[in-house]
Amino acid sequence: MSNYLETTKNVYKEAAETPDVGLCCTTTPVWQLPGLSIPNIMLEMNYGCGSTIHPRDLVNNPSVLYVGVGGGMELLQFAYFSRRKNSITGVDVVDEMLDAADKNLRLAEKENPWFKRNFVSLKKGNALDLPIEDNSIDVAAQNCLFNIFTKEDLQKALKEMYRVLKPHGKLVMSDPVSEDIIPDNLKQDERLRALCLTGVLPMQEYIDMIASVGFGTIEIRAKRPYRILSPNHYQTDKNIYIESIEVCAIKDPMPEDGPCVFTGKTAIYFGNEEYFDDNKGHILMQNQPLAICDKTAQALKKLNRNDIFISPSTYFYDGGGCC
Ligand SMILES: C[S@@+](CC[C@H](N)C(=O)[O-])C[C@H]1O[C@@H](n2cnc3c(N)ncnc32)[C@H](O)[C@@H]1O
Repeated sequence: MSNYLETTKNVYKEAAETPDVGLCCTTTPVWQLPGLSIPNIMLEMNYGCGSTIHPRDLVNNPSVLYVGVGGGMELLQFAYFSRRKNSITGVDVVDEMLDAADKNLRLAEKENPWFKRNFVSLKKGNALDLPIEDNSIDVAAQNCLFNIFTKEDLQKALKEMYRVLKPHGKLVMSDPVSEDIIPDNLKQDERLRALCLTGVLPMQEYIDMIASVGFGTIEIRAKRPYRILSPNHYQTDKNIYIESIEVCAIKDPMPEDGPCVFTGKTAIYFGNEEYFDDNKGHILMQNQPLAICDKTAQALKKLNRNDIFISPSTYFYDGGGCC
């Protein structure tokens, strides 16, 4: 796999020079916001698999780092929330992609009276060795890049994101995952990997990798069907089902008993008292839903009470949780 990073660069050099509408085929609806006009070329070059734009993360004009810029659509969407010079930094290793994003952002400036090209600064750099200072970023994002990396490189890339984030800063990501076994021949296929198809990990392994670099809180915000790799199109003897997830990892201190991972579980107390207190910081008000992390869900289940409902993971978590 030594050359896969070069193959990836070549794939995205081509995708910068000739927009490839079906390349990543995102099914996530593109954010339409009041007064935001996204140039068509950015839509055609939407090479992500979900969205990393979550308005709740973007209050108070945060400084944003976006790694793997593509056609620049998410840079523009981030800039919508951080309207000041150099508030968004886009990093990419492919010169042609940086040029395309620059051109597209200039077009966006013409279409959006609120947007100035200088809100976004573009830098050449590698996700594995970011040209960014330690502890300087509020929100770091990547969409559909990290899944391409081998596990060793994924760990480097995650460590880099952790390094540049301020304490409590957020790493927002979207990537494909799969619970199916990817045959070795497909995993080793550098082009399929670069196309975000066969480097995928099972979701739990992806979460474990994020936790291993130190993020104390991890949120699964969305999980959607993404692709099928079938024997009639790929060298596999079974269908491989791929999903895309949206994840936010927060640079909170790591709790002693491991990260708080929110997968969209909710607890509801429906006993006879006004509330239930587990004496560990969780108060469940009578018949009020409380979003809980998976550790809390497990601890509540162990109590074996018949007046506490715990929902399955919905993989749709958007804040308000227990820890
Ligand atoms: C699948 S595209 C995603 C583009 C964009 N995030 C989007 O959602 O449209 C991957 C992007 O990462 C860039 N890239 C590839 N390898 C990289 C690396 N090692 N470091 C930084 N960027 C890289 C590519 O040039 C391309 O812009």
